[in-house]
Amino acid sequence: MAIDYSQLIPNNVDLASDRRLQRALENWQPRFRDWWKDMGPDGTSNFDVYLRTAISAEANGWAHFGYVKMPDYRWGIFLAGQDPNRTIAYGDNKGKPAWQEVPGELRSTLRRLIVTQGDTEPASVEQQRLLGKTAPSLYDLRNVFQINCEEGRHLWAMVYLLHAYFGRDGREEAEMLLERHSGDPDKPRILGAFNEKTPDWLSFFMFTYFTDRDGKYQLASLAESGFDPLSRSCRFMLIEEAHHMFVGESGVQRIIQRTVELMKEHKTDDVRAFGAIDLATIQKYLNFHFSVSLDLFGQEASTNAANYYTMGVKGRYLETRIEDDHVLTGTWFEIDTVEDGRIVRRAVPALSALNERLRNDYVEDCSKGLLKWNKVIADAGIAFELKLPHRAFNRRIGAFSEIHVSPDGKVVSEADWNANASKWLPTDEDRAYVISLMGKAVIEPGKFANWIAPPQLGINRQPANFEYVRFN
Ligand SMILES: [Fe+2]
Ligand SMILES: [Fe+2]
Repeated sequence: MAIDYSQLIPNNVDLASDRRLQRALENWQPRFRDWWKDMGPDGTSNFDVYLRTAISAEANGWAHFGYVKMPDYRWGIFLAGQDPNRTIAYGDNKGKPAWQEVPGELRSTLRRLIVTQGDTEPASVEQQRLLGKTAPSLYDLRNVFQINCEEGRHLWAMVYLLHAYFGRDGREEAEMLLERHSGDPDKPRILGAFNEKTPDWLSFFMFTYFTDRDGKYQLASLAESGFDPLSRSCRFMLIEEAHHMFVGESGVQRIIQRTVELMKEHKTDDVRAFGAIDLATIQKYLNFHFSVSLDLFGQEASTNAANYYTMGVKGRYLETRIEDDHVLTGTWFEIDTVEDGRIVRRAVPALSALNERLRNDYVEDCSKGLLKWNKVIADAGIAFELKLPHRAFNRRIGAFSEIHVSPDGKVVSEADWNANASKWLPTDEDRAYVISLMGKAVIEPGKFANWIAPPQLGINRQPANFEYVRFN
């Protein structure tokens, strides 16, 4: 369906045919704009930014590039195309037609899932609010703004579902999504990782690599939902999410590139003397962001996850490509857990292990970026390898939260943990150092901060000195 840009809210859900819904969203829109002004990228309202805007959900419409002032960004509502024959692929309702309305008995469950996903979207915008002040280049500045705008659009996607399918409760939840704030002691965001700070660009790239990737896996399992409008919303969001993870992967890679250049040039591991980030510090940030992102998948053994699956509201990653009965009663799945203070492998009912299974898929995906990062180091002839820490390391949620585990997976005493934590996780001093590198934003086209290499390609194939942001 083509988009009617004369409407206040661009959409492909035929909003004009539902006056009540349209009015509800038009009421929410000014509150969203106020939130963007107060909590979105700081001091940027007059910038012209070279942004990608979705103007339709078709292959030729979702990536439309041009200069936009961010407060005027067209946050629209786009669902991936509908398959009229889609059936539910798993659980008790396997084989039945996908739901176009919310089944009464699943109302509160679906609402909670949508609110939890929706809450992460504005949270990350809040976390990234000040990064523009210290951007290492116009290219990077544009990328953080792009991500912020798209997370805003993902919020719109979830708010649309709440308004369209959940009545008054949904409208109230949509208000709350703008009232909780990242790190707010009274009204924090729902999930832990979204209340952490993103104070510097190394944290930002690690966040978009590891935490946006959690988003990918949550969206992918919600894309399997029997509730078709949720499935279609998530399918479209996943297309945008890919860019966020690209920004993270390539951002870390460019930092590593610069670090190894300086290591070679000066024949030293200690590149701090030359204003770059040493590999040991990069490993510590990686340890931190990986472990807090693992927590987002929840308990290893979870009756909630089993119920979501059995009811047909949340599936496995790429559910329809898995070859089994898609019911999973009477099947078992091996997970690592804790018994008597030790890590042990146990077979548990497959249904209760679905969080862990999704976490496995995530860990495997995470390791791919490390191959690329390590290749940069190896190509420079440097003997150092970045590693994903053991999944039990530094956990706050699940069985491993009861014990202390080193990055290589050994259970350690509290005293050992305290003696070594500063080698494994960023210290205050590390953080202060990294932040000290992030001076004033580099805003000359084609120039980059000292601690990061330029990208190999521009956005939308623009040249290296392209003016991605005009400050007016
Ligand atoms: Fe998102
Ligand atoms: Fe994202």
